[in-house]
Order: sequence, then C-alpha cells, then structure tokens
Amino acid sequence: MHHNKIVILGTGGTIAGTASNASSNIEYTAAEVGVSQLVVTIPGLQNGVETEQVAQIDSKDMSFEVWTALAMRVHHHLARQDVQGVVITHGTDTLEETAFFLQAVLSPVKPVVLTCAMRPASALAPDGPQNILDAVCVARHVGAQGVMVVCAGNLHSAHDVQKIHTYQLNAFGSGDAGPIGFIEEQKLKIVRNWPVAPDKYNVIATEKIAVLNQVTAWPKVEIVMNYAGVDGALVDTLVAQGVQGLVVAGTGNGTVHQSLHAALRHAQAKGVQIVRSTRCTQGRVLARSDDSFPASDGLSPVKARIRLMLGLMGLAA
Ligand code: SIN
Repeated sequence: MHHNKIVILGTGGTIAGTASNASSNIEYTAAEVGVSQLVVTIPGLQNGVETEQVAQIDSKDMSFEVWTALAMRVHHHLARQDVQGVVITHGTDTLEETAFFLQAVLSPVKPVVLTCAMRPASALAPDGPQNILDAVCVARHVGAQGVMVVCAGNLHSAHDVQKIHTYQLNAFGSGDAGPIGFIEEQKLKIVRNWPVAPDKYNVIATEKIAVLNQVTAWPKVEIVMNYAGVDGALVDTLVAQGVQGLVVAGTGNGTVHQSLHAALRHAQAKGVQIVRSTRCTQGRVLARSDDSFPASDGLSPVKARIRLMLGLMGLAA
C-alpha cells in the first residue's frame, strides 16, 4: 500500500471546461470534464493518485453547500494515514475564497493545494495539466502544510492570494507578501513560510465541520463599496432585510463617504457587525484612533466577508 497518496478532488472550473473551437480560450463551458479524465493524460500521475468528483460547477456559482461538502471531503482524506496531501481542481474566479475558507476551517498540517486553469481543457495549449502536475509536486513536498494555490508555476498562500488578471495565464498574485515559492521542473523553490497549522488541528477542524453541518442558513453578510456619489440607501435596504454583517470596501486606507458612513453607523447601532476593508488590491487597512469600524486585518473584502460569516457562526480562527 502507498503511504504517500495524493487525492485529487474535482470541483469544476475552466480547467474542466471545453470549447467547440480549440482556438477559443474564452468561448467555452466550464466544468464539463471529470477530474479522473483530466488526470489520466498527465504523465507521472498514474501511481499513488486517487481522484474524486466533489462538484462540477463554474466557480462563479460557488455555494455554501459545496464549501461544506468540500471541507468534509478534504478533512476525511487528510485524516487517512496513507494520504500525504490533497489537490483540488477549481475555477479561478472564486478560488481565493475557497482557499481562504478551507484554511480558516481546517488549518491543516498536511498540504491542501488548489489549482486551476485560465484556458479550457480543449484549448490548443491548455494550462491545466501543467498546473495539476505542479500542484501534485507541492502536495508531495516533504514538510508542506496548509491551504495553498498553484497557478502558472507560482505557489501562493490562501491568506494572500488574489485573482488579479482576467485573461493571462499567470492570473494570481500575493500582493506585498509575494508567493510562498515557485515550481520549476517539478521542484519546489520556497522563498517564505508555509501557512501556519495550529496544534490539535484535527480536533478543531472536526468541531468546526460539525458546526457547519448543523447550520441551516449561513449568516447574511454583504459587501458594499465606497465610490464617488455613493449614499446610504443600499445599506439601509440591507439592514431592513436583516443583514447581520457588512464589509465595506472603502477607498484608500478604508475611507468611507460621509453619507455611507452615516448609514453604516446606523446599521452598527442596530447590531450589524461592520468591517472596514479597501478596494485597493495592494496594501492593508491601517487602524486610526478615530475609527468607527474595525479594520479587516489585511484581508480583501471577499475574505473579510468569509471571516465575518465564520465569526458569526462561532467559527473564527
Ligand atoms: C470558473 O471560475 O469556474 C471559471 C473561470 C476559470 O476557471 O478561469
């Protein structure tokens, strides 16, 4: 029996997409090819690799149900003694959200490597097969831990990764933090730390998954943005609808128009939790002594929203 198996979980995405015309990289349908089919053609992946289809969706349609199912399957496989790590094939569009969610819930001591593609499987030069090979290389690396993302030879942490390009193959960046490392000819060159895994991770993850399984509806948390001419009407509407949390994607260092600010203060007085993030793709929001709302601790608006939802379910890190 292999004791260093890699389990590859499929969830869909462009990496599993097909186009009727091989020269088209955008006119395609995502999530059509099964993960076992994607893997079977890649040389070197025939031994010690298992596949499982968890979902088959375009990741723009990601749901809390798929997240819960995925967290459960990853947790299940990581608990197996014969499994060294898990790879997940995923669409690029919400990849950073799924990665952040899994790290927040599982904080695994084994590697969980999400990978993707910008071109469909049927393209003249698809990028998916190399990305899968690179992701498996990371999952097999001795000492690798935590939830990470592999794309175009770069290894990113779940905490820092963001999709930063709509079209190019190297579509992800890690901002000021930079990548964890680079995959070069099936060798990993590490340039900074692995994501942190707490002690007793298995117990914590098991408890968190049990809570997720019991939750019938996730807390309603929305994102609002600051921009010229914005008013508070959207926030007022969300409060009337019973929103529990709001992340504001502020301008610059998380600044908010006075009209939006007034509406957010009103929401806060009614018990809505507010977090201040930024619409800038680089840098973190720094706290000031006169702040009305807490800063997002370096998280982008979508990740701050996930942390707030988990916090409202009692699952904050
Ligand atoms: C998706 O996110 O599922 C489609 C886009 C992509 O994978 O690049």
